[in-house]
Amino acid sequence: MRIVMLGAPGAGKGTQAKYLVKSLSVPHVATGDILRSAVRGGTELGTKAKGYMDAGELVPDEVILGIVGERVDEADASAGFVFDGFPRTTVQADGLEKLLAKRGIALDKVLSLVVNEEALVARLTNRRVCSQCGAEYNLVSRPSRVEGVCDLCPGELMQRDDDREDTIRRRQRVYRDQTAPLVDYYSRQSLLAEVDGGQALDDVRRSIKNVLGGEH
Ligand code: AP5
Ligand code: MG
Repeated sequence: MRIVMLGAPGAGKGTQAKYLVKSLSVPHVATGDILRSAVRGGTELGTKAKGYMDAGELVPDEVILGIVGERVDEADASAGFVFDGFPRTTVQADGLEKLLAKRGIALDKVLSLVVNEEALVARLTNRRVCSQCGAEYNLVSRPSRVEGVCDLCPGELMQRDDDREDTIRRRQRVYRDQTAPLVDYYSRQSLLAEVDGGQALDDVRRSIKNVLGGEH
Protein backbone atom coordinates (compact mmCIF):
# COMPACT_ATOMS: atom_id res chain seq x y z
CA MET A 1 0.00 0.00 0.00
CA ARG A 2 1.25 3.47 -0.91
CA ILE A 3 -0.62 6.03 1.10
CA VAL A 4 -0.50 9.80 1.60
CA MET A 5 -1.79 11.36 4.84
CA LEU A 6 -2.99 14.85 4.07
CA GLY A 7 -4.21 17.33 6.66
CA ALA A 8 -3.55 20.64 8.36
CA PRO A 9 -0.93 20.93 11.12
CA GLY A 10 -2.32 19.06 14.12
CA ALA A 11 -4.88 17.05 12.14
CA GLY A 12 -3.36 13.81 13.45
CA LYS A 13 -1.29 12.73 10.44
CA GLY A 14 1.65 11.54 12.55
CA THR A 15 -0.51 9.88 15.20
CA GLN A 16 -2.57 7.91 12.69
CA ALA A 17 0.39 7.14 10.40
CA LYS A 18 2.11 5.41 13.33
CA TYR A 19 -0.87 3.04 13.75
CA LEU A 20 -1.15 2.48 10.03
CA VAL A 21 2.48 1.55 9.39
CA LYS A 22 2.31 -1.09 12.12
CA SER A 23 -0.64 -2.85 10.58
CA LEU A 24 0.58 -2.48 6.99
CA SER A 25 4.26 -3.26 7.77
CA VAL A 26 5.52 -0.41 5.62
CA PRO A 27 7.74 2.55 6.62
CA HIS A 28 6.43 5.86 7.93
CA VAL A 29 7.95 8.58 5.78
CA ALA A 30 7.37 11.91 7.55
CA THR A 31 9.24 14.76 5.90
CA GLY A 32 8.85 16.88 9.06
CA ASP A 33 10.52 14.15 11.17
CA ILE A 34 13.34 13.76 8.62
CA LEU A 35 13.91 17.54 8.67
CA ARG A 36 13.80 17.78 12.50
CA SER A 37 16.34 14.98 12.76
CA ALA A 38 18.60 16.86 10.29
CA VAL A 39 18.23 20.04 12.39
CA ARG A 40 19.19 18.11 15.56
CA GLY A 41 22.16 16.55 13.77
CA GLY A 42 23.36 19.94 12.51
CA THR A 43 23.65 18.61 8.93
CA GLU A 44 23.70 20.80 5.82
CA LEU A 45 20.04 19.89 5.20
CA GLY A 46 19.17 20.83 8.78
CA THR A 47 20.90 24.19 8.53
CA LYS A 48 19.05 24.92 5.30
CA ALA A 49 15.65 23.84 6.69
CA LYS A 50 15.68 25.35 10.19
CA GLY A 51 14.81 28.94 9.27
CA TYR A 52 11.80 27.89 7.21
CA MET A 53 10.54 25.51 9.87
CA ASP A 54 10.86 27.95 12.76
CA ALA A 55 8.95 30.54 10.72
CA GLY A 56 6.21 28.01 9.86
CA GLU A 57 7.04 28.25 6.15
CA LEU A 58 7.60 25.39 3.73
CA VAL A 59 11.06 24.13 2.92
CA PRO A 60 11.72 24.52 -0.85
CA ASP A 61 10.13 21.87 -3.08
CA GLU A 62 13.40 20.72 -4.70
CA VAL A 63 14.93 20.00 -1.28
CA ILE A 64 11.90 17.93 -0.26
CA LEU A 65 11.69 16.03 -3.55
CA GLY A 66 15.38 15.16 -3.23
CA ILE A 67 14.81 13.69 0.26
CA VAL A 68 11.75 11.70 -0.81
CA GLY A 69 13.39 10.38 -3.98
CA GLU A 70 16.20 8.89 -1.90
CA ARG A 71 13.83 7.54 0.75
CA VAL A 72 11.55 5.60 -1.63
CA ASP A 73 14.59 3.83 -3.06
CA GLU A 74 15.51 2.35 0.30
CA ALA A 75 14.84 -1.39 0.58
CA ASP A 76 12.14 -1.14 3.25
CA ALA A 77 9.96 1.02 0.97
CA SER A 78 9.66 -1.62 -1.73
CA ALA A 79 6.39 -2.95 -0.28
CA GLY A 80 4.94 0.54 0.13
CA PHE A 81 4.98 3.48 2.53
CA VAL A 82 2.83 5.97 4.38
CA PHE A 83 3.77 9.56 3.55
CA ASP A 84 3.00 12.01 6.34
CA GLY A 85 3.24 15.73 5.54
CA PHE A 86 4.28 15.11 1.94
CA PRO A 87 3.34 16.22 -0.68
CA ARG A 88 2.46 19.72 0.46
CA THR A 89 2.32 21.69 -2.79
CA THR A 90 1.14 20.87 -6.31
CA VAL A 91 4.79 21.02 -7.43
CA GLN A 92 5.59 18.28 -4.90
CA ALA A 93 2.54 16.24 -5.95
CA ASP A 94 3.55 16.45 -9.63
CA GLY A 95 7.13 15.59 -8.67
CA LEU A 96 5.92 12.58 -6.68
CA GLU A 97 3.81 11.32 -9.55
CA LYS A 98 6.81 11.45 -11.89
CA LEU A 99 9.10 9.88 -9.33
CA LEU A 100 6.71 6.94 -8.79
CA ALA A 101 5.91 6.53 -12.51
CA LYS A 102 9.64 6.21 -13.21
CA ARG A 103 9.68 3.26 -10.83
CA GLY A 104 6.47 1.77 -12.30
CA ILE A 105 4.40 2.37 -9.17
CA ALA A 106 1.55 4.69 -8.09
CA LEU A 107 -0.33 5.85 -5.00
CA ASP A 108 -3.23 3.72 -3.73
CA LYS A 109 -5.00 6.23 -1.49
CA VAL A 110 -4.81 9.78 -0.14
CA LEU A 111 -6.40 10.13 3.30
CA SER A 112 -7.40 13.68 4.11
CA LEU A 113 -7.93 14.26 7.84
CA VAL A 114 -10.42 17.07 8.39
CA VAL A 115 -10.45 19.01 11.69
CA ASN A 116 -11.68 22.55 12.43
CA GLU A 117 -9.02 25.20 12.96
CA GLU A 118 -9.69 26.07 16.61
CA ALA A 119 -9.40 22.41 17.61
CA LEU A 120 -6.10 22.23 15.71
CA VAL A 121 -4.63 25.18 17.56
CA ALA A 122 -5.68 23.70 20.90
CA ARG A 123 -4.14 20.32 20.03
CA LEU A 124 -0.84 21.83 19.00
CA THR A 125 -0.43 24.17 21.94
CA ASN A 126 -0.98 21.11 24.18
CA ARG A 127 1.35 18.77 22.27
CA ARG A 128 4.49 17.64 24.10
CA VAL A 129 7.34 15.56 22.69
CA CYS A 130 9.96 13.55 24.54
CA SER A 131 13.34 15.26 24.20
CA GLN A 132 15.10 11.88 24.22
CA CYS A 133 13.04 9.30 22.32
CA GLY A 134 10.61 11.54 20.41
CA ALA A 135 7.42 9.89 21.79
CA GLU A 136 4.45 12.24 21.47
CA TYR A 137 1.92 13.28 24.10
CA ASN A 138 -0.88 15.75 24.52
CA LEU A 139 -1.69 17.48 27.81
CA VAL A 140 -5.42 16.99 27.13
CA SER A 141 -5.97 13.93 24.94
CA ARG A 142 -2.88 11.84 25.69
CA PRO A 143 -1.12 12.87 28.90
CA SER A 144 2.01 11.11 30.16
CA ARG A 145 1.66 9.19 33.44
CA VAL A 146 3.98 11.61 35.27
CA GLU A 147 3.65 15.23 34.23
CA GLY A 148 6.59 16.44 32.13
CA VAL A 149 8.28 13.00 31.92
CA CYS A 150 8.11 10.42 29.14
CA ASP A 151 6.35 7.10 29.85
CA LEU A 152 8.90 5.17 27.78
CA CYS A 153 12.23 6.63 28.92
CA PRO A 154 13.48 9.17 31.51
CA GLY A 155 13.33 11.97 28.90
CA GLU A 156 11.85 15.39 29.66
CA LEU A 157 8.79 16.44 27.64
CA MET A 158 9.23 19.61 25.55
CA GLN A 159 7.22 21.69 23.09
CA ARG A 160 8.18 21.60 19.42
CA ASP A 161 9.90 24.85 18.34
CA ASP A 162 7.10 25.57 15.82
CA ASP A 163 4.25 24.95 18.31
CA ARG A 164 4.11 28.58 19.51
CA GLU A 165 0.67 30.04 18.86
CA ASP A 166 1.81 32.63 16.27
CA THR A 167 3.79 30.01 14.36
CA ILE A 168 0.86 27.58 14.55
CA ARG A 169 -1.41 30.22 12.94
CA ARG A 170 1.21 30.84 10.26
CA ARG A 171 1.42 27.08 9.54
CA GLN A 172 -2.39 26.92 9.24
CA ARG A 173 -2.33 29.77 6.68
CA VAL A 174 0.43 28.07 4.72
CA TYR A 175 -1.67 24.88 4.71
CA ARG A 176 -4.76 26.73 3.42
CA ASP A 177 -2.81 28.53 0.68
CA GLN A 178 -0.36 25.90 -0.50
CA THR A 179 -1.49 22.44 0.59
CA ALA A 180 -5.32 22.49 0.68
CA PRO A 181 -5.46 22.63 -3.17
CA LEU A 182 -4.18 19.04 -3.09
CA VAL A 183 -7.61 17.94 -1.83
CA ASP A 184 -9.08 18.77 -5.26
CA TYR A 185 -5.95 17.56 -7.01
CA TYR A 186 -6.31 14.05 -5.58
CA SER A 187 -10.07 14.09 -5.73
CA ARG A 188 -9.82 14.57 -9.51
CA GLN A 189 -7.60 11.48 -9.61
CA SER A 190 -10.20 9.53 -7.55
CA LEU A 191 -7.57 8.84 -4.89
CA LEU A 192 -9.00 10.99 -2.10
CA ALA A 193 -10.87 9.77 0.98
CA GLU A 194 -11.90 12.34 3.59
CA VAL A 195 -11.85 11.23 7.22
CA ASP A 196 -13.31 13.14 10.16
CA GLY A 197 -10.13 13.77 12.15
CA GLY A 198 -12.06 15.59 14.88
CA GLN A 199 -13.22 12.32 16.44
CA ALA A 200 -11.48 10.56 19.33
CA LEU A 201 -8.19 8.84 18.41
CA ASP A 202 -9.64 5.32 18.18
CA ASP A 203 -12.64 6.47 16.16
CA VAL A 204 -10.36 8.17 13.61
CA ARG A 205 -8.36 4.96 13.47
CA ARG A 206 -11.53 2.94 12.84
CA SER A 207 -12.68 5.34 10.12
CA ILE A 208 -9.34 4.95 8.35
CA LYS A 209 -9.63 1.20 8.61
CA ASN A 210 -13.07 1.34 7.00
CA VAL A 211 -11.77 3.50 4.16
CA LEU A 212 -8.92 1.09 3.49
CA GLY A 213 -11.31 -1.84 3.44
CA GLY A 214 -9.85 -4.10 6.08
CA GLU A 215 -6.23 -3.67 4.97
CA HIS A 216 -5.37 -1.87 8.20
P1 AP5 B 1 5.35 18.51 10.03
O1 AP5 B 1 6.19 17.90 11.04
O2 AP5 B 1 4.82 17.70 8.92
O3 AP5 B 1 4.22 19.28 10.80
P2 AP5 B 1 2.71 19.64 10.43
O4 AP5 B 1 2.22 19.30 9.09
O5 AP5 B 1 2.62 21.06 10.80
O6 AP5 B 1 1.89 18.67 11.26
P3 AP5 B 1 2.05 18.27 12.77
O7 AP5 B 1 3.15 17.25 12.89
O8 AP5 B 1 2.10 19.46 13.64
O9 AP5 B 1 0.63 17.61 13.00
P4 AP5 B 1 0.08 16.15 12.70
O10 AP5 B 1 -0.99 16.26 11.68
O11 AP5 B 1 1.19 15.17 12.46
O12 AP5 B 1 -0.64 15.86 14.06
P5 AP5 B 1 -0.22 14.92 15.30
O13 AP5 B 1 -0.54 13.52 14.98
O14 AP5 B 1 1.15 15.24 15.75
O15 AP5 B 1 6.15 19.74 9.36
C1 AP5 B 1 6.86 20.66 10.14
C2 AP5 B 1 7.57 21.66 9.24
O16 AP5 B 1 8.53 20.97 8.41
C3 AP5 B 1 6.68 22.40 8.23
O17 AP5 B 1 6.08 23.55 8.81
C4 AP5 B 1 7.70 22.76 7.13
O18 AP5 B 1 8.50 23.84 7.51
C5 AP5 B 1 8.57 21.52 7.09
N1 AP5 B 1 8.06 20.51 6.15
C6 AP5 B 1 7.66 19.23 6.46
N2 AP5 B 1 7.26 18.58 5.36
C7 AP5 B 1 7.41 19.45 4.32
C8 AP5 B 1 7.14 19.37 2.93
N3 AP5 B 1 6.63 18.26 2.37
N4 AP5 B 1 7.39 20.47 2.18
C9 AP5 B 1 7.92 21.59 2.70
N5 AP5 B 1 8.18 21.74 4.02
C10 AP5 B 1 7.93 20.67 4.83
O19 AP5 B 1 -1.26 15.44 16.39
C11 AP5 B 1 -1.13 16.73 16.95
C12 AP5 B 1 -1.52 16.71 18.43
O20 AP5 B 1 -2.90 16.39 18.54
C13 AP5 B 1 -0.78 15.65 19.25
O21 AP5 B 1 -0.53 16.17 20.53
C14 AP5 B 1 -1.75 14.46 19.29
O22 AP5 B 1 -1.58 13.68 20.45
C15 AP5 B 1 -3.08 15.18 19.26
N6 AP5 B 1 -4.11 14.41 18.56
C16 AP5 B 1 -3.97 13.71 17.39
N7 AP5 B 1 -5.13 13.14 17.03
C17 AP5 B 1 -6.04 13.52 17.99
C18 AP5 B 1 -7.45 13.24 18.16
N8 AP5 B 1 -8.13 12.48 17.30
N9 AP5 B 1 -8.06 13.81 19.24
C19 AP5 B 1 -7.37 14.57 20.13
N10 AP5 B 1 -6.04 14.84 20.02
C20 AP5 B 1 -5.39 14.33 18.96
MG1 MG C 1 3.30 15.32 12.38
